[in-house]
Amino acid sequence: MKLVRATPQAIGEAAAVIRKGGLVAFPTETVYGLGADAMNSLAVARIFEAKNRPRFDPLIVHIADPSSITKLCSVVDSRAAKLTERFWPGPLTLVLPKTQVVPDVVTAGLASVAVRMPSHTVALELIRQAGTPIAAPSANPFGYLSPTTAQHVEEQIGEKVDFILDGGKCTIGIESTIIDLTGKEPVVLRPGGLAIEEIEKVIGKVTISSARWQRPLSPGQLPRHYSPRTPVKIVADEPAEIINGTRAGLLAFKSVKEKLPYEVVEVLSPAGDLREAAANFFSCLHRLDGAGLDIIYAEAVPDTGLGKAIMDRLHKAAGKRDTRQNLPKTIGD
Ligand code: TXA
Ligand code: MG
Repeated sequence: MKLVRATPQAIGEAAAVIRKGGLVAFPTETVYGLGADAMNSLAVARIFEAKNRPRFDPLIVHIADPSSITKLCSVVDSRAAKLTERFWPGPLTLVLPKTQVVPDVVTAGLASVAVRMPSHTVALELIRQAGTPIAAPSANPFGYLSPTTAQHVEEQIGEKVDFILDGGKCTIGIESTIIDLTGKEPVVLRPGGLAIEEIEKVIGKVTISSARWQRPLSPGQLPRHYSPRTPVKIVADEPAEIINGTRAGLLAFKSVKEKLPYEVVEVLSPAGDLREAAANFFSCLHRLDGAGLDIIYAEAVPDTGLGKAIMDRLHKAAGKRDTRQNLPKTIGD
């Protein structure tokens, strides 16, 4: 890990790290972000590993030019146009329908993507020089407060990142306001650095999502997590018994040796690497879900590192009780 003052040269080095699939912690006007190339699934999986999150959460994609939004979002309506015109760059994140180019691991399988153009010059220069949008959550480990200085980042997850750009203290110090524009009514998913009143001056009355924010201390309140429509059953590594006439698919952890009795098999990681498995997880599940199957059998993966987040997702897809209720209460995610 390298902690350096964000000189033009250091930003250039950090941008090279991003391009190579590494992790860079960088300052924004709100909080420090833990960034990776948003177009590189494997690099994005490393973010979850570093945050030590026992689950996948959709990430915010940071851009350096408002026009990049059209590459990432398939619909940019007049509300979005007005808001970006008025508040970008700045502490406002828009959730909009995503385009094909956004990897599923970035959005945790959702059909929407969160996008923001930060106003911090270091963040903007990093994104420009990397030449790619940067996916970044706040640079804190699961359960800790968001970092507002490079030293916070170093203390909290220093050994897990390749590069920390020190741009001093964040001026706003709380996360961006997130507004969901995928529906008819705009919904604030997270109050943050931009006052809701300011937003309402531009697009009129907005509602505030109660699902997530009335009980901010319980993790994973996000109501719109992707879940497959096809029933999912978790199995140990032996092939499951398949009832005659049932169209069954398998979500395998590693490459499968024998010919198995499934219509479709998706392999998360041929070599059994959890980071690769995490990077592929949502797209594999999407493909299986779209294959017209009656049931998806999913192999359990090792319950360590990113395997915990995969298992958390699998349990939810299988309709089990929310496994996260056993997790410690958290003040940040
Ligand atoms: O100020 C900020 O927003 C900071 C800086 C680094 O930009 N980032 C940040 O990221 O706070 P994070 O990952 O800690 O919080 C992102 C929030 C999460 O609550 C996530 O659930 C939500 O954004 N989110 C991301 N994509 C979403 C989507 N497609 N739909 C709904 N919520 C989404
Ligand atoms: Mg956070």
